[in-house]
Amino acid sequence: MKRVLSGIQPSGQLHLGNYAGAIRQFLDMQHDHEIFVFVASYHALTTSGDADELRANIRQVVIDYLAFGLDPSECHIYLQHDVPAVCELAWLLGCVCPKSQMDKATTYKDKVAKGIAASVGLFTYPVLQAADILAVDPDVVPVGADQQQHIEITRDLAQRFNHRYGTEDAPVFKVPEVMLREGSAVVPGVDGQKMSKSYGNGIDPFMAEKPLRKRIMKIVTDSKPPEEAKDPEDSTIFQIYVALAGREDERTQKLAERYRASGEHGMGYGEAKQALFELVMDTFKDARARRADLMQDPGHIDAVLRDGAAAANAVMAGVLARARSAVGLG
Ligand code: ADP
Ligand code: TRP
Repeated sequence: MKRVLSGIQPSGQLHLGNYAGAIRQFLDMQHDHEIFVFVASYHALTTSGDADELRANIRQVVIDYLAFGLDPSECHIYLQHDVPAVCELAWLLGCVCPKSQMDKATTYKDKVAKGIAASVGLFTYPVLQAADILAVDPDVVPVGADQQQHIEITRDLAQRFNHRYGTEDAPVFKVPEVMLREGSAVVPGVDGQKMSKSYGNGIDPFMAEKPLRKRIMKIVTDSKPPEEAKDPEDSTIFQIYVALAGREDERTQKLAERYRASGEHGMGYGEAKQALFELVMDTFKDARARRADLMQDPGHIDAVLRDGAAAANAVMAGVLARARSAVGLG
């Protein structure tokens, strides 16, 4: 069985981009893969400054994972700060990582351009991410398109480390493959930019019905009137719709036709937003009910995390011992 690892930062409420770009892939794979999925709590410190808020967000991501349908009897769910081996491994990897490689990371530049403080933690973020990954010897790392560069950095660091410290027959790290969701595009947020927890432009599928509708109505559009035909591909509303329902879905095709209609049969953006609202309510009907139950059962969440960390720590102990010994520590 192939081993899979991925993680999500607890930097705010999960949104449709996280679902379409990441979580849906875990759900598809959980029956026939060994899955390690974690909450990237250390990574969140690169953007978070409020302890209570972080604590709450960490908890919420776990609840949301389970609500979306991750099954703890099929996958290991854990918190990054319950597996401290990744920090030690990050140091070892940082020592084979050329600074120039971090200089090229586009996520760092994007985040700084958005006003996030340019800390050393933010700068070396991809090294810690490489440690998260290499620590469990995964075969594949499923992520959204925006994370591809980080996985390439991970592969490169693993190869550098193996080249320096390993042998052909006994590499220190397994070099994992990236897995991008087919046709996976970056899902735009209500402002048309990449939907992101840290940009405040997300759509949270667990919002109460009324605020959810209001949120969707906030999606920015151009000012074309209903009578004017529109290209669905130019529309943020449509792009989000496609990310959820898929291009082949009958509902998507119907909506595309509505965009192209003109004159008295033309469509206003309010109609497209209503269609998206209904799609979200329909897609997440079961998840919304599950989440309400999970919120009432904190003991269950604790138990899931305890088991997940035990499984991850067991694997990481072996990998860390290999890496330490390879570099000459012990
Ligand atoms: P955020 O940018 O909201 O903080 P993360 O960086 O924690 O989200 O991303 C968690 C996972 O969700 C990653 O695998 C990432 O590729 C995916 N993801 C995040 N935002 C999007 C998006 N807008 N479109 C597609 N996938 C996304
Ligand atoms: N950087 C990822 C993101 O922002 C989150 C993450 C941290 C991650 N460590 C990881 C994803 C390891 C996959 C594997 O989405």
